[in-house]
Amino acid sequence: MARMTTVPSITLNNGVEIPQLGFGVYQIDPDETKDATLAALEVGYRHIDTAEMYGNEAGVGEAIRASGIDRSEVFVTSKLNNGFHRRDDALRAFDGTLDALGSEYVDLFLIHWPLPTIDVDYVETWKALEEIAASGRAKAIGVSNFQVPHLQRLLDETGTVPAVNQIEVHPFLVNEEVRAFGQQKGIVTEAWSPIAQGKVLDDPALTEIAERIGKSTAQVTLRWHVQRGDVIFPKSVTRKRVEENFDLFDFELTDADVAAITALDKGERTGPDPDTFDYVPS
Ligand SMILES: NC(=O)c1ccc[n+]([C@@H]2O[C@H](COP(=O)([O-])OP(=O)(O)OC[C@H]3O[C@@H](n4cnc5c(N)ncnc54)[C@H](OP(=O)(O)O)[C@@H]3O)[C@@H](O)[C@H]2O)c1
Repeated sequence: MARMTTVPSITLNNGVEIPQLGFGVYQIDPDETKDATLAALEVGYRHIDTAEMYGNEAGVGEAIRASGIDRSEVFVTSKLNNGFHRRDDALRAFDGTLDALGSEYVDLFLIHWPLPTIDVDYVETWKALEEIAASGRAKAIGVSNFQVPHLQRLLDETGTVPAVNQIEVHPFLVNEEVRAFGQQKGIVTEAWSPIAQGKVLDDPALTEIAERIGKSTAQVTLRWHVQRGDVIFPKSVTRKRVEENFDLFDFELTDADVAAITALDKGERTGPDPDTFDYVPS
């Protein structure tokens, strides 16, 4: 049943509004993506985060059409896959993303990884995304997994400040330096793997807070992200969890609880290090 929850929006640096809470579809089987996304839309999510790399953009598009919800009411993000960093490849890959989604535009298009050690410079890739934005077929453009020096090069060498930087952030990797740089420059941080794929959920400090306020450790963690001002899109194929993860707006953490969760940082990644990750599909 649809909920009446209102998800807050954040205004990006070009004026586009993004719902602060969305639904991520990484690792959802392409055959199950339509049903999983439909369930999320039914619960009330209006922001879906997919990527060419996930192989499930088509299922996201099918779900939106099947939901009966107007396309303009759903914020859709997709990402450029690693093999397409050259300008012409990027433009072609973007057309492929729109075809797969069955949509004339995306709300947000990202460079998925900077790949700083490969022979194509991500500044060239960013200029291709600027062309895509100028065509109106991406309402906003941004990056993912960019470290401070990578962001600084885009600021120095191109005319567009990324609207977002989607990076790994959760209580075991608070990623303060990259977040703070984004904040200074008007780049919204999107926190991927917001519950570290479940790894943070048994932490005793989170359990203590959750028991005290009568919420789950997942809800406490997701609320921590919301209060820090980051955009999140937890993934789940379990209906009860999809509902639980959406139910974040009728409680608040104290400043002391937010600080205690931030102090859990141990610099522990669940995913690759952006400075060295160089995987390009053949
Ligand atoms: N840009 C990037 O490089 C990048 C990298 C990774 C992720 N992302 C994005 O971020 C999204 C979220 O990250 P993620 O999927 O890696 O991890 P996540 O959202 O932190 O965690 C997902 C895992 O936690 C479980 N889970 C979800 N809600 C739960 C709850 N309330 N209680 C207990 N367990 C729960 C899910 O299980 P079930 O599904 O079995 O319920 C799943 O195994 C992705 O879907 C993707 O859109 C981006």
